[in-house]
Amino acid sequence: MTIGTRTASFTLAVAPAVSAAASGSAAFEIRRFDAPLGAEIIGLDLSEPLSAEDFARIHRAHLDYHVVVFRDQRITPEQQIAFSRRFGPLQIHVLHQFQLAGHPEILIVSNVLKDGKPIGLGDAGHFWHSDLSYKEKPSLGSLLHAQELPAEGGDTLFANMHLAWETLPGHLKTAVEGRNAEHTYLARYAELQQRSPWRPNLTPEQIAQVAPVLQPVVRTHPETGRRALFVSEHFTTRIAGLPEDESRDLLAQLFAHSVKPEHIYRHAWQEHDLVFWDNRSLLHLAAGCPESLRRVMYRTTIEGDLPG
Ligand code: SIN
Repeated sequence: MTIGTRTASFTLAVAPAVSAAASGSAAFEIRRFDAPLGAEIIGLDLSEPLSAEDFARIHRAHLDYHVVVFRDQRITPEQQIAFSRRFGPLQIHVLHQFQLAGHPEILIVSNVLKDGKPIGLGDAGHFWHSDLSYKEKPSLGSLLHAQELPAEGGDTLFANMHLAWETLPGHLKTAVEGRNAEHTYLARYAELQQRSPWRPNLTPEQIAQVAPVLQPVVRTHPETGRRALFVSEHFTTRIAGLPEDESRDLLAQLFAHSVKPEHIYRHAWQEHDLVFWDNRSLLHLAAGCPESLRRVMYRTTIEGDLPG
C-alpha cells in the first residue's frame, strides 16, 4: 500500500539543539524535530564504543522524543544487535522465515523477491500498530536500519499515543478507563495473506506462539509515568466486557483519534538511518513504495514490561 504524499514531513527545529557536554562524552548533537515527536542524533558513530554518559543521553532522548533517528550509521548486524541489547533482551519474531541468516534477532523487512520468493516481510507496518502488542510482554522499542532505500516513497509514520490519550474527548476517556482489550497477531493475517506474497501459512507452533492476550486500553509508561492509548487497527480486536457492536464502535473512534495529523511525524528515510522508536508511546505505519523499487531494512525488537 502506498500512502499519500510527503506533505506531512517536518523541518528541523532550530532552537532546542542540545550540545555534547562534559568530557568523556562524544561530540554529538540531539536535535528535536518540529513535530509532535522525534529527534535526530548527529555526529555519533554507533560502531564505536559508547560511554555510559552517552548512553544515558540517548536513553533520555528516547524517553523525551519517542523516536530518535541516528544519522549515517555504517554499522553491521552484530553492532545493531549489541546496541539494541543495551536496552533489554531482544525478541525473536514469529515469522522465523524472515530472520537474517545467522542472526535470528534481526527481522528482514523488505519488498524484495529473490527467485520469486520474499527475502523479508514486505508488508510489515501495512496497518497502524505497536510492535508485538499481541505478546504478553510487548516490545519496549524497535530499531530499524536502512540497508537499501527506494528512490520514491518508503516513509514510516509515527503517531504519539500520549497526545492521543491526553486529547481524547472526556466521554471516550470515561468509556475506556480501566478496560482491557484483546490483541492478536492473527487479527488481519488472512486479509494480508490475500493481498501479497509476504505472509506464509503459519505452523501450529507459530500459531501457539501468538495466542491472543488482553492489554490495558490505556497504559502507563513504565519509565516516564505518562499515560498512552494502547490500541491499534492491526492487532486490537475487541474491548473486553462490552457488547460486540459497542466495542467495534468505540475502537473505531479510538483508532481514528489516535492517528490524527496533529499526532503524527512522518519519517522520510536517509541513507544509513537507524531509527529507534518507543512502542510504549507510539503507533507506526509503513507508507509503502512502488513495487518496482527495492526497500531493505533490518529490524531488532526489544522486549518491554507487562503493560500496566
Ligand atoms: C515495521 O512495522 O516494523 C516496519 C516499518 C517500516 O518498514 O517502515
